[in-house]
Amino acid sequence: AKEFDFIVVSNRLPVDRVRNADGKDDWRRSPGGLVTALGPVMAKSDGAWVGWHGAPGEKLDAFGHENMKLIPVELSAEEVELYYEGFANATLWPLYHDVIAPPEFHRTWWEAYRTVNKRFADAVAHSAAQGAIVWVQDYQLQLVPKYLREARPDLQIGFFNHIPFPPLEIYAQLPWRRALLEGLLGADLLGFQRPNDASNFLRCVRRYVNATVKQNQITIGERTVRAGAFPISIDTAQISALAATPEVQERAKQIRRDLGNPKTVLLGVDRLDYTKGIRHRLKAFSELLEEGRLNVGDVTLIQVASPSRERVESYRMLREEVEGTVGRINGTFDTIQHTAVRYLHHSYPLAEMVALYLAADVMLVTALRDGMNLVAKEYVATRANNDGALVLSEFTGAADQLRQALLINPHDIDGLKDSMMAAVEISASESARRMRLMRRQILDHDVERWSQEFLSSLRSKT
Ligand code: G6P
Repeated sequence: AKEFDFIVVSNRLPVDRVRNADGKDDWRRSPGGLVTALGPVMAKSDGAWVGWHGAPGEKLDAFGHENMKLIPVELSAEEVELYYEGFANATLWPLYHDVIAPPEFHRTWWEAYRTVNKRFADAVAHSAAQGAIVWVQDYQLQLVPKYLREARPDLQIGFFNHIPFPPLEIYAQLPWRRALLEGLLGADLLGFQRPNDASNFLRCVRRYVNATVKQNQITIGERTVRAGAFPISIDTAQISALAATPEVQERAKQIRRDLGNPKTVLLGVDRLDYTKGIRHRLKAFSELLEEGRLNVGDVTLIQVASPSRERVESYRMLREEVEGTVGRINGTFDTIQHTAVRYLHHSYPLAEMVALYLAADVMLVTALRDGMNLVAKEYVATRANNDGALVLSEFTGAADQLRQALLINPHDIDGLKDSMMAAVEISASESARRMRLMRRQILDHDVERWSQEFLSSLRSKT
């Protein structure tokens, strides 16, 4: 039924349908920054969320979940392989992240991407009320704006790209570079994380599409499309509130006790993804131990590496490598009593994550390229006492806003090591000075504000 005035559409719904060990079905929070950010926005809106439910080949009806109305889109097992693991995550993901892994180009993947994007557009067209606002999310769905406009010219269509948009020189490799841009240009407003992403996109449009580009406005025939930067954020109040609960604070103390109360706890939290710079972080940490600048017994690195895209080859290789490296570091530096790296290949509920942030003196975000990185913002949101230190890669969108972090270039291992030491040794006053300013930033610019700014810009048409 065409009933919703506001629809968000993303590849994934906020929950995945999983089968438990006892054979029963269950819902689990989906991984990644998109869901972290949009979950709180959607919980407060009365719109619907259209997306895939994570179970290949299963057809599900629309259902309600934690105040949200969810409309599932079905993907066959073959489509998961060609569209999701293939085109989305072995072509576009590496291409849009500085070709850190080599992107693969396969025509069958592209065909599947088109078919699936059409299906998402159809699902939205079917549920949207006359004149509704539709907000399309992320690189998996770049053709949806165009298909949707063809089916429903009455809709107002916004698109937000959660990951970087690559420079023209890299984007140029894509055999379907024009078709993808035309897909995006079906929207009225295109949002990117950083001004640089928006200008990369505009340059690609100028080169490959028959359109006039003036500043942030694109004119194609009768239509105008706007593009701009809208840096995403977190539900800062929710994270701060969780961090203030006695249960979470007690859990944080428990975590430190369980580690044997080391002087310093370092923390990394990432999807196990080659863009996150986990290898660089481990290399730096291991050299610091080797040189005796850090000692096992004084420090522990907790590395949460949540399972991600496990059937994609480059992710399998990364896992082998990271786990080999962790094994070598621990084998070399552990004592019976102490461990250097506590490696956790799990995902955890939000309350446990907040306890981990609270337990950490130093947060390590060493991504080689990252659209935003919400882990950095979550860590800052938990530091009500203005203590702790954030080591943050300058190749993340978050580095634009969290200017008082210890900013690093993760490729520069010596520089990274020095900044890690500076973070371990930071004085209380210096850490408070930096943390106070960063906290002000994210309290002011939370995800609610992000969505309001995007949606009001979409409505105002200027
Ligand atoms: C990033 C992407 C999201 C994606 C998430 C998790 O944050 O921007 O679109 O949902 O990673 O990845 P997955 O492939 O598991 O959905």
